[in-house]
Amino acid sequence: MKIAVLPGDGIGPEIVTQAVKVLEALRSDGLKIEMEYAHLGGAGYDAAGDPFPPATEKLALAADAVLLGAVGGYQYDTLPRPMRPEQGLLRIRKGLGLFANLRPAMVYPELVNASSLKPELVSGLDIMILRELTGDIYFGQPRGIRQLPNGERQGFDTMLYSESEIRRVAHVGFQIALKRNKKMCSVDKANVLDTSMFWREIVTEVAKEYPAVDLSHMYVDNAAMQLVRAPKQFDVILTGNIFGDILSDEASMLTGSIGMLPSASLDAHNKGLYEPCHGSAPDIAGKDIANPLATILSLAMMMRYTFVREDIAQRIENAVRKVLQQGMRTADIYEAGMQKVGCMAMGDAVVASL
Ligand code: IPM
Ligand code: MG
Repeated sequence: MKIAVLPGDGIGPEIVTQAVKVLEALRSDGLKIEMEYAHLGGAGYDAAGDPFPPATEKLALAADAVLLGAVGGYQYDTLPRPMRPEQGLLRIRKGLGLFANLRPAMVYPELVNASSLKPELVSGLDIMILRELTGDIYFGQPRGIRQLPNGERQGFDTMLYSESEIRRVAHVGFQIALKRNKKMCSVDKANVLDTSMFWREIVTEVAKEYPAVDLSHMYVDNAAMQLVRAPKQFDVILTGNIFGDILSDEASMLTGSIGMLPSASLDAHNKGLYEPCHGSAPDIAGKDIANPLATILSLAMMMRYTFVREDIAQRIENAVRKVLQQGMRTADIYEAGMQKVGCMAMGDAVVASL
């Protein structure tokens, strides 16, 4: 297992250190794991003047899987856009062809009170959001800021999806649904956008190859509402890049903390980049209070999807469940009566329960 490790910025290095401890524990148990480090985001800009330095690209291309912390920090906010940390993230996604972004939203029984919704609405919740990750308005050309003939300035971006992009992510969605409760809801804005009308047409066509899956369609504004009204109606949500960005943040809060949510971004051959759904949280960086569980759970996804080791994936997930059962909580999921622990102590506890 050749893993490229990209700690990134903010709390990235702290949380990745905890996940690496888990990998080291698995290695001493006999798994053949090789890790090599590189810079991404602000760390890449600081080290090499580029948020996605060539050395990082080379390492990531050669690896079987990439483990990423998070990118971004206040000190980079005023850089020209190509130099900003987020560009490093977008370029590595595009460069590795990671078009299928899996963001599960699962409520652990121990954390049901941490949700911002009533326990009965979220207890037992298990949604998989599949977000297309390398197309849409994120990458569409042309884009920019231009001057109109009347002298006024105008900002513009282009939303677009080609048929092959929609098809391949739809197939991934149906395959995932087949392994779950066989329900998929495709989310779009087909009442307004041509791109969405086309998205719906192609998803409906692909659905003919998966008669066992119950496909529905929903407008994104309604989906945003339904997620907080009755989230358990969803099994798999398939959606485009920008709608998926927004809905996955919304869904994360159903689970109690975005600090619990892992993600996988896969190419056509299940090579993947694994990262927590949350950002670099520069305000709490270096204070040993970040929650490393999303990053550790991302490793479980890596074992499941890239290395096809369901046994190890479950071992990691069970270890996490056990520390929650023992009452250990980082600040973001803390409630009275529990034991508050820091980032490092949480990592150690997971390794111990592994
Ligand atoms: C995410 C993030 C990124 C995105 C940003 C940091 C570019 O919000 O992974 O959801 O918009 O995709
Ligand atoms: Mg986002």
